[in-house]
Amino acid sequence: MTLEDIAKKMCAKGKGILAADESTGTIAKRFNSINVENTEVNRLAFRETLFKSEAIKNYIGGIILFDETIRQKTSSGLSVPELIVKNGSIPGIKVDKGAKVLSGSPEETVTEGLDGLRDRLKEYYKLGARFTKWRAVIKITDNYPTVQCIKSNSHALARYAAMVQECNMVPIVEPEVLMDGSHDIDKCYNVTENLLNDCYEQLALHKIDLKGTVLKPNMVIQGIDCQKKSTSSEIARKTLDCLKRNVPEEVTGIAFLSGGQSEIESSKNLNEINKINDTKFLITFSYGRGLQASALKEFGKNKEDIKKIQNAFNHRAKMNGLSSKGEWSEKLEKEIAA
Ligand code: 13P
Repeated sequence: MTLEDIAKKMCAKGKGILAADESTGTIAKRFNSINVENTEVNRLAFRETLFKSEAIKNYIGGIILFDETIRQKTSSGLSVPELIVKNGSIPGIKVDKGAKVLSGSPEETVTEGLDGLRDRLKEYYKLGARFTKWRAVIKITDNYPTVQCIKSNSHALARYAAMVQECNMVPIVEPEVLMDGSHDIDKCYNVTENLLNDCYEQLALHKIDLKGTVLKPNMVIQGIDCQKKSTSSEIARKTLDCLKRNVPEEVTGIAFLSGGQSEIESSKNLNEINKINDTKFLITFSYGRGLQASALKEFGKNKEDIKKIQNAFNHRAKMNGLSSKGEWSEKLEKEIAA
């Protein structure tokens, strides 16, 4: 398969990406919220339950794993990547080493992990990964982001993407503008626009084949503490407009992060975007919390109740699969949930 074929499969109509690549620190927060101890056994139990569910075959084109998970064996004896392939999806891997203090602007971050990356990529390919993820994090306040922060992160994203394509995998390029803060939707639009522009300038400079990439952006949306809540149709219009103006047409897939939106909000907003999508981009989801929150709650209630955990996950995956085609509705959400 070419890199373009892989990107098309990850973002095929009706499908999207499961971001199950929480670092050990991040999954600690998620498990803490459901009173589950953060052990390797529990992390595998939760993830294996999802990876074995019906939803993977039908609605999940790719699964992003964390370094620990890609090396684990499942209860059936298959490795995690083998289980994912068996269920008709594509294994991927988060390869960045996290957002670290940006020297010169210490309240902002730059994502690290380029040193030794080529060797790690070769190993991940052998372990079964066919795509990768690198997340840059940009925050909005009255004084931020700085040009320094945007340029440092875009540069790292492009160098990462070049190495990943050299190693025959599809890079997910994730420049995330955080929802934290009280900024309005237009401020988010402006920052997202500047960031996307800079990223694609850097990707061009590093000779990235855009057909063999997937962009993972934030939606254009107000900050969590903003008083003025935008409607789904305004979020959809502004998000699509921002993408059309700043993302080159050659990009194959655009898969949003949920970024702190609730499960329903993230399905509804993705659906609105696809209802008005008049581009060639395959527009879909690459959700962590947006796909897993309900399943995680069930796991907290009873880890052994595989059926309940899978039902919760299957439902969210199905809803987002519909949203990737602009066919989701509140009515279907309730009917199918009942
Ligand atoms: P959320 O959907 O929970 O924002 O996570 C997606 C992700 O992978 C962020 O890097």
